Amino acid sequence: MKTYTVLALLFASPVFAGVFPDVGYAAPQNWNGKQFVLSQDYPQAEPPAESYPWTSIDFKTQPKEYLNSIIRYCFEGFLKEGEFLQPQENKKRPWYHAPWLHYGSNGREFVNGLTNERSSRPSELSEGQTESYRNVAVGLYNDRGAFTIGQVWKNPTAPNAAAAKFPEGTVSFKLLFTAAPETIAPWLAGSPTWTADLDRSNNSAKIAATKVRLLQVDVAVKDQRSSCGGWVFGTFHYDNSILGDSPWQKLRPLTVLWGNDPTVTPSSGTKPVESWVDAESPIVKFRANPPAGLTPPPPPVLGWAGRGNGPVDNPISSCLSCHSTAQNPGTPMIPPSSVSEQTRLRWFRNLKPGQPFNSNATTLDFSLQLAVGINNLGDFKKFTQNLGGVFVKPKAATPGPAAAAPALAPDAKKPEYSRDPKPVQ
Ligand code: HEC
Repeated sequence: MKTYTVLALLFASPVFAGVFPDVGYAAPQNWNGKQFVLSQDYPQAEPPAESYPWTSIDFKTQPKEYLNSIIRYCFEGFLKEGEFLQPQENKKRPWYHAPWLHYGSNGREFVNGLTNERSSRPSELSEGQTESYRNVAVGLYNDRGAFTIGQVWKNPTAPNAAAAKFPEGTVSFKLLFTAAPETIAPWLAGSPTWTADLDRSNNSAKIAATKVRLLQVDVAVKDQRSSCGGWVFGTFHYDNSILGDSPWQKLRPLTVLWGNDPTVTPSSGTKPVESWVDAESPIVKFRANPPAGLTPPPPPVLGWAGRGNGPVDNPISSCLSCHSTAQNPGTPMIPPSSVSEQTRLRWFRNLKPGQPFNSNATTLDFSLQLAVGINNLGDFKKFTQNLGGVFVKPKAATPGPAAAAPALAPDAKKPEYSRDPKPVQ
């Protein structure tokens, strides 16, 4: 009966056209702007590999060229007249979203499908940043990656973690936007903006006026030359001083990671050799050399003990460290704050492709969108079970997941799971 309950919810709602919900709540009735639609027509057979231009570039010696080659592939077909299109409008190649990120208070907002990310604390981005600012993001997978997403989620009510083996040539990228104003740093000036329903507002005019601006773009590529899980992770940040045909292209390659430097700690006397970080980035320059007396002081560059990481990311982690924890059942994404450096290194191992973080778990192959989605479905099932295992039709006119997901009061303080998990005690 439980399966039936969830299925009834999945198929009964007018909020979405596909198998998986687009968002978990309805737009205000008088909203006539754009609305997010999940790209979920996942390929049923493994798409053939293309000849990817970055495979002939050595990320160790030409990290910028490697990253720029990937971002050109990711953005192809998305840019039109200064706008960044939705994947359904991209005529160059198909891109897909992962399901079940709509659920809960961190779930997708309805305009652009943005989920809540870790906030940027004072002094993390610039010396002019005196407040904490919210960040939101949306991620996409190419056809090779989407094939795997579709295999894991083939049964929409019982995802199969064992199918999470992304083929070579899988690419995912993620656009991260900040609520910070462009005045916090000269490099942020002119960054492109999107509308976002940050506060789950009922007021259409207020939603239309809420803008977030592009800050960071993440990429993850299945590249067998990597020392860690077969994945290379990298990131860019928006930088006004970079030349670009449109503001979307003013992206500075910031870091690339092809390994986790399994022995490097703050006191090891060694520096990471499996990450490259751009010393010319204004964020790196600021963090490496903050003005004397700045309070609070900025976090170090950029991840733990100098590993690569994003400007919005938790500085005690690294891209590959956090993503190496993607598994079923879930496990803490970052090490507990109380443990020794040696214990902490468990989070900085170079896992083999297909090796789970915990030996008794099933790996989700570095996909935290699979991990979060599967976890959200589990929470949703528990929620419906707490209703007695029976789906009670809500009184609202639009039933379905929108009504079933716990409503978020407009001024409720949102917890942050994405990239900012609670450390285990
Ligand atoms: C402390 C944890 C953490 C760190 C550090 C982190 N991420 Fe993630 N990342 C997440 C979580 C959680 C998700 C899934 C939810 C989402 O998309 O917001 C995610 C999603 C992604 C995705 C979408 C694909 C997927 O399913 O995982 C990409 C690509 C990505 N991150 C790249 C990066 C890169 C590049 C870095 C470093 C610059 C990075 N991440 C650092 C937690 C982290």
